[in-house]
Amino acid sequence: MNTTIYYFTGTGNSLSVTRKISEKLGDTEIVSIVSQMKTDGIISAPSGRVGIVCPVYDSGIPVMVRDFLHHLKIGDGSYVFGVVTLGGTGGSALKMMNTALLTMNTHGLDAGFIIKMPGNFPPVSSPPPAEKITSILSSAETEITRITEIIRECKKQKIGVYPVSSLIQAVLYSGFAKGVHGADEKFSVSDTCTSCGTCVSVCPTENILLKDGKPVYLHRCELCCACLNFCPVQAIDLEMLRGTKGRGRYHHPQVTVGDMKKQKGCT
Ligand SMILES: Cc1cc2nc3c(=O)[nH]c(=O)nc-3n(C[C@H](O)[C@H](O)[C@H](O)COP(=O)(O)O)c2cc1C
Repeated sequence: MNTTIYYFTGTGNSLSVTRKISEKLGDTEIVSIVSQMKTDGIISAPSGRVGIVCPVYDSGIPVMVRDFLHHLKIGDGSYVFGVVTLGGTGGSALKMMNTALLTMNTHGLDAGFIIKMPGNFPPVSSPPPAEKITSILSSAETEITRITEIIRECKKQKIGVYPVSSLIQAVLYSGFAKGVHGADEKFSVSDTCTSCGTCVSVCPTENILLKDGKPVYLHRCELCCACLNFCPVQAIDLEMLRGTKGRGRYHHPQVTVGDMKKQKGCT
């Protein structure tokens, strides 16, 4: 049976998980959700296994992923699985994924999985130290092997109940979703910026232009923090919550700027 996996990533964790599931399953097409958002109207998934892989934002799913799922039509005989990557707590994001799928489809997720990865949102917590990152990624690999066997056999797996995450989602998510596109007003750029354009390259939503050599934000942000985390000289800060000055940055060690460009269909 062939498989199609739709993914969204800000700092590579979800892309890395997508690639690993794909390598282990074989016969899998990887499709970026960003590339699908260029078309309006219904998006029809090929039949077979269909996967959705994305990060957790405020115990929910990225707004772009939610919008995509509102347009995704999946054949009735397909097996549908969801995977969310997160840095801490957020299992109820799977429930949101399921609800969004039900907009266009009579059945939602057959199985849902959570993969713990290094956190990428320094305003809440600094990224873990290098040795901890290695150990988190190694545990993730084991978990990916386990869940891939469930997916291979098209087994059903109920989405769990996550009271803390549900509470966070209920309190935070609607405000997050309403304000996210304009949240880029809280990014600032220091004089250490070298005008290299990495932020422009990695931004999944084409939300950044260089003006007089400095990044300017266009208010279609997903708050994925790719610009912040990939900047090679840490010239970008986010003045939100605890701020990011003096805090570390993180992106997945095997995901490059080129991979982030490919997410937008650029080579
Ligand atoms: C705006 C934002 C909100 C986040 N909210 C949560 C959260 O509610 N719970 C959590 O465990 N991790 C949260 N994270 C961390 C990411 O979900 C996690 O690091 C994820 O693996 C990043 O995936 P990516 O590299 O594919 O973008 C958040 C990250 C961002 C940027």
